[in-house]
Amino acid sequence: MNRHTSRDRKIKVALIGFGRMGRLYFEEMQKSGRWDIAYICDADASTRQLAKELSPESEIVSTDQEIFADNSVQVVGLFALADSRARQIKKAIQYGKHIIAEKPIADTMEAEWEVIDMIKDANVLSTVNLYLRNSWYHNLMKEYIRNGEIGELAIIRICHMTPGLAPGEGHEYEGPAFHDCGMHYVDITRWYAESEFKTWNAQGINMWNYKDPWWIQCHGTFRNGVVFDITQGFVYGQLSKDQTHNSYVDIIGTKGIVRMTHDFNTATVDLHGVTQTLHVERPFGGKNIDVLCNLFADSIETGIRSPQLPLMYDSTVASEYAWRFLQNARKNDLPAIGNLRTLEQIRERRRNLTNGYGLLTK
Ligand SMILES: NC(=O)c1ccc[n+]([C@@H]2O[C@H](COP(=O)([O-])OP(=O)(O)OC[C@H]3O[C@@H](n4cnc5c(N)ncnc54)[C@H](O)[C@@H]3O)[C@@H](O)[C@H]2O)c1
Repeated sequence: MNRHTSRDRKIKVALIGFGRMGRLYFEEMQKSGRWDIAYICDADASTRQLAKELSPESEIVSTDQEIFADNSVQVVGLFALADSRARQIKKAIQYGKHIIAEKPIADTMEAEWEVIDMIKDANVLSTVNLYLRNSWYHNLMKEYIRNGEIGELAIIRICHMTPGLAPGEGHEYEGPAFHDCGMHYVDITRWYAESEFKTWNAQGINMWNYKDPWWIQCHGTFRNGVVFDITQGFVYGQLSKDQTHNSYVDIIGTKGIVRMTHDFNTATVDLHGVTQTLHVERPFGGKNIDVLCNLFADSIETGIRSPQLPLMYDSTVASEYAWRFLQNARKNDLPAIGNLRTLEQIRERRRNLTNGYGLLTK
C-alpha cells in the first residue's frame, strides 16, 4: 500500500493558531498529502470562518480542549502566539501528542526553561521551527566549511534588515524585532560556530522614538574563539516609495570565505574555498515548512527522530541570548531618533499594504 495516498495512513494533525504561520503549515501539509488535518483551532471568529471555507473536512474549534481529548490526534501544530504556547506544550505532553511548535516556545524565559525540563523526559516527538536550519543555503555553506575549504572558521557576520513588522502591529508576546525575528539569526550564528556565546556588546537605537529598539547590532565571541556580528532591524525604509531590504551572511575563515544573499525569491551563495570557487543560485525556499513537516512525518513513520529537526533546547538558548543582547543594548546609550508621528504613518501605510515585507494577516 502506498503510504502517501491511503487516507487512513495519513498522520492526523490539529493546527492551533490559523494566522499567517498556521496557514503556511496548512498549505504545505495539504500539498504533501501526508497529513490529515483533523482540526483547526483559532480564537478569532472570522479566522475560524476562513478555516471552514479553506478546509471543509476539518473540525473548526475555538478552544483546544477537544483536540487534546481526542485520542486519534497524533500531532499538534502550535502556531498561535507565544503567550499560549507553554501551556499547550505541557498539555500535549500530558496527552501524548507529538509537537511541531513555532518559536519562541513561551513568552518568558522561565516558562521556556520549564518546558525544556518537561520535554526531555517526555515520550513525544517535538520540534520547533528554526527555519534557517532547514534552508538549502545554510546547509550548503556549513558543509563547505566542514570540508575545510575556508580553513579555520573565524568570523560570522549576519545581517537582516527589512521594512517589516513595525512596533504595535502584532507579535506582542514575541518581543521587539531583535527577539521576534532576530532570535533566528542568534540561533544560526551559534549553529555555525558550534560553540556557546561568551561575550557580547550590543548597540541599538529607539527608531521613531519608540520605547524599544527596533534595530540592534550585536557583536561578540564564542567560547571557541569564533567572533560574530549580528545586525537585525525592521526599520529599513518603511516609507520609501519603492521598498527594499538587505539580508546577507558573510563567513570568513583563515583561508577562504563563504557568503549568501537573497531577495526572498532567489538565494545566491558564493563559495570561495582553497580548492574550488562556486556560485550557486536557487529558489529561496521561504520558511522551509515543507522540509520541517517532511522531516517530522519521516520521524513519526520510522520512529526515529531526524537529527536535522531543530530542538526546543536550541530555540530556548537562542531566545535567551536574543533577550540578553537586547538587555545589553539598553545599557549602551540607547539614542532615540525620529518621532512617533512617523511610526503612525508607517502603520497607516502598512495597514493597507498588499505587496511588501512582513505583511499583516487579514
Ligand atoms: N519561524 C518563523 O520564521 C516565524 C515567522 C513568523 C512568525 N512566527 C511565529 O509564529 C507564531 C504565529 O505568528 P503569526 O505571524 O502567524 O501570527 P498571527 O497573529 O498571524 O496568527 C496568530 C493566530 O493565533 C490565533 N490565536 C491567538 N491565541 C490563540 C489561542 N490561545 N488559541 C487559538 N488561537 C489563538 C490568533 O487569532 C491568530 O489567528 C508567533 O509565535 C511567531 O513568533 C515564526
